[in-house]
Amino acid sequence: MDERDAYLAWPLSYMEGTPALANHYREWKWTIMLNLVNRGVDLKMVESRPGSANGSRVIKYRRLRPFKTDEIKVLLVENISTIAEKMLREAGYQEELREKLRTVHALGIRSKTQITEDLIKEAPCLLTIGCFCIGVNQVAQEAALSRGIAVFNSPFSNSRSVAELVISEIITLARQLGDRNREMHNGQWKKTAGGCQEIRRKILGIVGYGHIGAQLSVLAESMGMQVLFYDIQQIMPLGMATPTESLDELLERSDFVSLHVPETSETINMIGARELKLMKPGAKLINASRGSVVDLLALKEALESGRMGGAALDVYPEEPAANGPWSTGLEGLDNVILTPHIGGSTEEAQAAIGVEVATNMIRFLDQGTTLGSVNFPELDLRVNTFEQPSTPYPCRVLNVHQNVPGVLLKINQILGQFNIEKQVCESRGQYSYIMADVCAGCETDLDHIFESIFHLPEAVATRIVY
Ligand SMILES: NC(=O)c1ccc[n+]([C@@H]2O[C@H](COP(=O)([O-])OP(=O)(O)OC[C@H]3O[C@@H](n4cnc5c(N)ncnc54)[C@H](O)[C@@H]3O)[C@@H](O)[C@H]2O)c1
Repeated sequence: MDERDAYLAWPLSYMEGTPALANHYREWKWTIMLNLVNRGVDLKMVESRPGSANGSRVIKYRRLRPFKTDEIKVLLVENISTIAEKMLREAGYQEELREKLRTVHALGIRSKTQITEDLIKEAPCLLTIGCFCIGVNQVAQEAALSRGIAVFNSPFSNSRSVAELVISEIITLARQLGDRNREMHNGQWKKTAGGCQEIRRKILGIVGYGHIGAQLSVLAESMGMQVLFYDIQQIMPLGMATPTESLDELLERSDFVSLHVPETSETINMIGARELKLMKPGAKLINASRGSVVDLLALKEALESGRMGGAALDVYPEEPAANGPWSTGLEGLDNVILTPHIGGSTEEAQAAIGVEVATNMIRFLDQGTTLGSVNFPELDLRVNTFEQPSTPYPCRVLNVHQNVPGVLLKINQILGQFNIEKQVCESRGQYSYIMADVCAGCETDLDHIFESIFHLPEAVATRIVY
């Protein structure tokens, strides 16, 4: 246990009654103190030390940590039963959210809750939004940054789940399992070996060798497939996988082509009539990336003509917002597997998403670290200064400000009155984020730092963690 002593001076006015806790900073300090008490931390009233503010009591305690999160109010939505969600929606769900947002510091959502600019304006205490899902389009990210609210998601936690789905589809297409299954369900026995193959020694062409493509590469090779891949980046191949010079080369050489690219202007309709014609006769196409990557009409034509041996689609150019009747236009085609965007939908992926997003939110609340944030510059500072502080009052200053000339100078003029142990700053568009570990001498210093930075006209959000 870290036995170091630290001293925290609390002017009497902060400690007596709530009116004096009106502004944001005072509220934080009060919260921290209550938390220390709740956690059983030994708060002792000791004699005022030289240098503490007049009229202050100095509280001595041991093992001060960077920040206490017990009192942070967290609102998690979308994690409730369908019937309850339906009831809440009918009762005006967004209004409910709006009401609750006024007091929470951290908000956890999934993909359905829209966090608009208006809603963000109604959340004065909000520090972070965790999207417990892959996408973040449901959040007004710039508006969040303009208020100093960091948004986190988990884009890669389901890579393995997608790769496994694709492996299952390669075998299903190779053995026409979808068709045999449908025939049996329709009371038809149709035993045939025609057009059915093993996948061993077949060539799998992977387009996009990122998180999912690379996982798939390893799994496919372990099942005896030969892997080719095409990526616009130079990526180190895993195992025996071989990069191709061009997409055309990959299409011409592969028995199975699996797409794992993001949606960009280059990848929209990346696979159209021309590309499908380049594929080997009888080759199979798998798309579990983005619906816009494949021209569905061209694919339908290639399948109906018998030139292609089959396809598996998990994503579509248009997808419905909720479960219910839906048509892709490809129903009834032979050896075509259609799934409703379930590539990443496994219990393991959901758990991994939960761990990643929650971890990032906690690190942001405790330390100000923004690694993994989609709307902040990604910054990190190791928390080691506080282990052996050179002053009794080390603190970390966190500030978001407008990215205009001269602000950093103003901030550093304030911080420069103390010893700055570490500092990092980065800009993103109209805003910049600074993290600085500062050795203040007493609580009054901390007050001075906070108030001075908080009131800079360019300051957007300011926090101090201990
Ligand atoms: N079906 C699902 O449920 C599901 C789940 C997760 C992800 N996805 C989708 O899968 C896709 C891949 O995800 P990821 O996590 O592997 O992404 P990633 O960013 O790790 O990898 C994408 C790769 O594609 C490459 N790329 C980009 N443009 C390219 C181009 N024009 N030609 C060739 N390569 C190109 C990139 O260089 C990168 O290596 C994304 O579109 C994602 O939205 C789908």
